[in-house]
Amino acid sequence: MAEIGGMNIRALAAKYGTPLYVYDEGRICDILNSYREHFQSDTFETGVLYASKAFSCKAIVKLIAEYGMYLDVVSGGEIYTAKQAGYDMSKIFFHGNNKTPEEITYALKEHVGTFVVDNLQEAELLKELSENADYTVHALLRVNPGVEAHTHNYIVTAHVDSKFGISFLNEEEIVKTIEVLKTCPHIAFDGFHAHIGSQIFDRNAFGEEIRKLFEYAKHMKDTYGTDIKTINIGGGFAARYTAADAPIPTDEVCRFILDTCREENEKNGLNVHRILIEPGRSIVAEAGYTIYTAGGIKTTPNRHYVFVDGGMSDNIRPALYQAEYDAVVDGKENEPANTEYTVAGKCCESGDILIQKISLPDMQRGDLIVLKTTGAYGYSMASHYNKLPLPAVVFVKDGTDRLVIRRETFEHMTALEV
Ligand code: LLP
Repeated sequence: MAEIGGMNIRALAAKYGTPLYVYDEGRICDILNSYREHFQSDTFETGVLYASKAFSCKAIVKLIAEYGMYLDVVSGGEIYTAKQAGYDMSKIFFHGNNKTPEEITYALKEHVGTFVVDNLQEAELLKELSENADYTVHALLRVNPGVEAHTHNYIVTAHVDSKFGISFLNEEEIVKTIEVLKTCPHIAFDGFHAHIGSQIFDRNAFGEEIRKLFEYAKHMKDTYGTDIKTINIGGGFAARYTAADAPIPTDEVCRFILDTCREENEKNGLNVHRILIEPGRSIVAEAGYTIYTAGGIKTTPNRHYVFVDGGMSDNIRPALYQAEYDAVVDGKENEPANTEYTVAGKCCESGDILIQKISLPDMQRGDLIVLKTTGAYGYSMASHYNKLPLPAVVFVKDGTDRLVIRRETFEHMTALEV
């Protein structure tokens, strides 16, 4: 691949330096269009929330706004970023298992539309802090339906001991929390939220989640007269990192979710009005690439290493989740990939390996290696380990490039040091 989004890779590297995150903006727009087109229903109001933790910056928030989508945030910092992008605060859903009093106060001051309340203590805190709110604060309750999605342990979120949400097994707390929310003068309790994990390939995991949510909503209605108007299914739709990955196509997963919700709504005699989903990864992952420059090549008895000028500081996912990536070498697409390499980063840590094994053409210092599918949880989880400055982020579209986040300098990294 000599190009991303119509832009020459070598020219991008020369202009902005490496490592460099590059997003094919057209690709993001295609996915946003696909969600917008397919997450539509005759039965329900529908909404797609972009989970900004996957990649949060002003440029992406502006795109989300252009496509009329809602925004999922998990911190004061993500609210601030949305605000800086001019995003409509009423369309924000504020998540998190431990929102601080300062964050809640800030969100209320900014008129954030919906709080996804995680537990009873948080509901009580929100009640207290919203006493003088000058608008109606919408609230969903995060519940844990106990669906096991088969994904990495760190990104499973709905097992019974999860730190997120209230388990269906703890009905007493669910009932009390709803009671607290319903008795707040400024709060409108809308319904349930759940999120069962990330990088999910199996539609049946979502099917089971939906069935459990609707059955529980019926139980709540029959037992306590609680009306659930909104159900938010969460995110978790997989992206394709390597040829071994086969994510459910967006149109199919949207249809499946809405069909299952309609069936369950009818079957349980409910009157749920609105269905929401909140994809993060599937919107930005495949549109993102990281360009690295190859440095040293090292051969040991069992391996050929190629070292690159970034690593776990710009992509922690291989070290943290054993995540796998595919890569190409710019300009060597037609050369035989006949050597097995380990692509290693430059951080002082043996675990700083971006790709354990990949067949590549013979590598030389100065070659540009492009890792694919790095658009989600790359920049957003980047660190300053070894005091490596964060790379720049560039959006490319129709043969033009635009810088959306500048590369950090050494001065940035010490600017706050007293
Ligand atoms: N909604 C909630 C409540 C979430 O916790 C998450 C992700 C999402 C939506 C978006 O999920 P997605 O569609 O992106 O799978 N750092 C990990 C992923 C952590 C996901 C955390 N929650 C990784 O790099 O794989």
